[in-house]
Amino acid sequence: MVSPTRDTGGDRRQGTDGATLIRHFGTTDALPLWIAEPDVELAPSVTSALQARAADRWFGYETRPGSVIELFRDWTRERHAWDCAELAVMVSPSVGTSTGVLVDLLTRPGDGVIIQPPVFTDFKTIVSENGRTVVRNPLVLSGDQYKMDLDDLASKTADPGNKLLILCNPHNPVGRVWDNDELAAVAAICAEHDVFVLADEIHADLALPPHRFTPFAAATGDSGVRWAATHGPIKTFGLAGVCDTLLVTDQPQVEASFETRSSQFHLTRNNVFAIAAFEAAYRGGRTWLDDLLVLMAANVTVLASGLPDEITLVNPEGTYLAWLDLRALDIEVAELGPWLAQSAGVAVSPGHWFGREGAGFARLTIATPTETIERVVDQLRSAIRRR
Ligand SMILES: Cc1ncc(COP(=O)(O)O)c(C=O)c1O
Repeated sequence: MVSPTRDTGGDRRQGTDGATLIRHFGTTDALPLWIAEPDVELAPSVTSALQARAADRWFGYETRPGSVIELFRDWTRERHAWDCAELAVMVSPSVGTSTGVLVDLLTRPGDGVIIQPPVFTDFKTIVSENGRTVVRNPLVLSGDQYKMDLDDLASKTADPGNKLLILCNPHNPVGRVWDNDELAAVAAICAEHDVFVLADEIHADLALPPHRFTPFAAATGDSGVRWAATHGPIKTFGLAGVCDTLLVTDQPQVEASFETRSSQFHLTRNNVFAIAAFEAAYRGGRTWLDDLLVLMAANVTVLASGLPDEITLVNPEGTYLAWLDLRALDIEVAELGPWLAQSAGVAVSPGHWFGREGAGFARLTIATPTETIERVVDQLRSAIRRR
């Protein structure tokens, strides 16, 4: 597999018409649509806070104010009608850090960790690099929507060797925003066999109306399921290179052991820019985010009406991503990404990066100007005509 980061190598340039182009699968002029982050002007509140912080010229130790956590609590109350005042909210450098630490804390070498492919690639890597067994509960495509295979999940959770489910809500890459009934079913199944649920909810703010994000925590009812969830502004505000994330849980024991790991490995060292960006995002980023959601909805409309017949858009409900079904083109799995880059000038993430269930699909970012999406549609149409 080509590493997406290495493949691009930061090599962005302006095309003659002003469009941003990148190196991808051997081309130097592909439209950059392969990564899950916004390719638009970022929230002014955030960029000006970062500039002001840089202008401070003081980059020593800084205490993270408690208001950072309170801002997050206000944000979830307002945007998701989720009150997490009674829950533990801890800072973690990244979602990957939280995932790795929880895999280490909650499972032993050889134990099974269930994932739901096609899914964000780091889950598999973190599980296997920690010496745990990746157990697959593949999603099932039904019409233009993915569903969870709950019977299969019930049988996988019934295996006493499987201790943890990593749930992706909303789901990268297929764009599902799981609803209350689906999440409640997962909670009931996992509670029955005491399988811990780690809900990766880093895309929580990116549900496309009329879809609404439901926190896993809100769907657990009286199931008694043990859970934790990852949150934070890194995806929402395009801050993955700067910002901290959060780990939320109702389990005092998980809170205590996560805090211990954090101090054992100094995971809580503060980054002055992360603090500034985090506060500015949650204080001043509402309107920017609302505008972005409108832009993404418009881009979905362009894709839905403009894609050639050979390419089907799997109905996107949330995340920065559109999941395209290109199986009708009958292109060899390993050739799909190169063909899209070289023949259509479109740099996407080929679906098999997310597991074998993604073969023949591709993930494309929709958080980009509509002109770019219009170009994508035109370039795909011409590439297919020339085949
Ligand atoms: C579902 C999901 N989780 C986690 C991450 C990465 O988070 P981090 O860089 O904080 O590890 C991504 C990045 O795209 C993602 O889509």
